[in-house]
Amino acid sequence: MRSLASQAAVAILNVRYLKQIRELFESYVETSVQAIGKLTPYNENHTRNMVEYGKKFLNYLNEKAKSEGREIPFDKEHYDELIMSVWLHDLGKLVTPVDIMNKNARLWPLQRLAIESRMNDFSLKARIMRLEGKITKQEEERITGRCERILSFIEEADVSIVKDRKERLDEFSAWIFTEEDGTLRPYLEDSEIHQLAVPYRTLTDEEFEIMHDHVVKTDELLSKMKFPKEMSHVRKWASMHHELLNGKGYPDHLHKEEIPTEVRILTILDIFEALTASDREYKKPKTAQEAIAHLHKIAGFGEVDEELVCLFEESGCWKD
Ligand SMILES: [Fe+2]
Ligand SMILES: [Fe+2]
Repeated sequence: MRSLASQAAVAILNVRYLKQIRELFESYVETSVQAIGKLTPYNENHTRNMVEYGKKFLNYLNEKAKSEGREIPFDKEHYDELIMSVWLHDLGKLVTPVDIMNKNARLWPLQRLAIESRMNDFSLKARIMRLEGKITKQEEERITGRCERILSFIEEADVSIVKDRKERLDEFSAWIFTEEDGTLRPYLEDSEIHQLAVPYRTLTDEEFEIMHDHVVKTDELLSKMKFPKEMSHVRKWASMHHELLNGKGYPDHLHKEEIPTEVRILTILDIFEALTASDREYKKPKTAQEAIAHLHKIAGFGEVDEELVCLFEESGCWKD
C-alpha cells in the first residue's frame, strides 16, 4: 500500500512538473513575441491576432467535421502544435533591422535631409551667381525651378501614385549643377534615385530581401530549440509561412505538393491579418471583406489554397 501510495505521489508530482514546464515554455514564447512588440508594436498585435483567429478557425474546422460525422482534423496535440507555430512564425523579426521593419518612406531620413539641404544650397548659390552677374536671370530660374520640382516630387512620392515616376527620375538624374569653380554636382545621387524609384510601398528590392530573411532567421532560431515530439513540426511550419502554392513564395520557392495544410492555414492567417491590420503606418487597412476578396484573387493565381480560403471565409473567425 505504501509503495502504491508513493508511486501515485510521484506520478502526481510528475504531472505537476510537466504542467509547470509547459506553462514556462508557453510564457517564454509569449515573452519573445512581446520582445518583438517592443521593437515594432504592430508585429506583436499581428501575431496575437493570428493566434486568436487561428484558434477560432481550427475550432470551426473541428465543429464542422463533427457536424458532418467526420473525424475532427485537429485533435488537442495537433491543434496546440499549429497554434504554437503561429506564435513563433515571425520570431526572426527579433533580429530583423528595426529601421527596415518601420520604414514608411522611400528615402531614409538622412537622405531626405541631404537632398533638402543640397537644393537650398544650389538655389542660394544660383542667386548669388546671378547677383554677381555670373549667370543670367533665366539660368537662375532654371536652377531654382529644378530644385523645386525635385522637392515637390519627394513630397508626392510617398503619398500618391506617381504614374510617370520613372520618366521624371530619368530627367532628374540627367541634371547637373555647375559650381562657381566648375565642379559638377548631380542634383540627385544614384542611391537617392534608386530609393525614389520604388514603384509601390517603401522598400527597395534589397531592403525587401532583408525583410524576407526573417523566415530564414525564424528557422535558425527555432533550430536551437529542443521541441518535444508532439511539437516536432513547429520549426518547419513556422518557417514556411511565406511559401506560396505556385512556387512564388520564399525562401525556398516550394510548390503545393511540399506545402502541408497547416502551413497553408498559417499563410492565410498571415495574409488576412496583414491586410486588415489598422496599425501599419505604411498602408491603410482593408476591410475583412476586401481582405477575403484579395485571398480569393490570389487563390485564383494559385498562391493560396482556394478551399481553405472558402472555409476561412465561412468561419468568420476574425469576428468578436
Ligand atoms: Fe512573416
Ligand atoms: Fe506574419
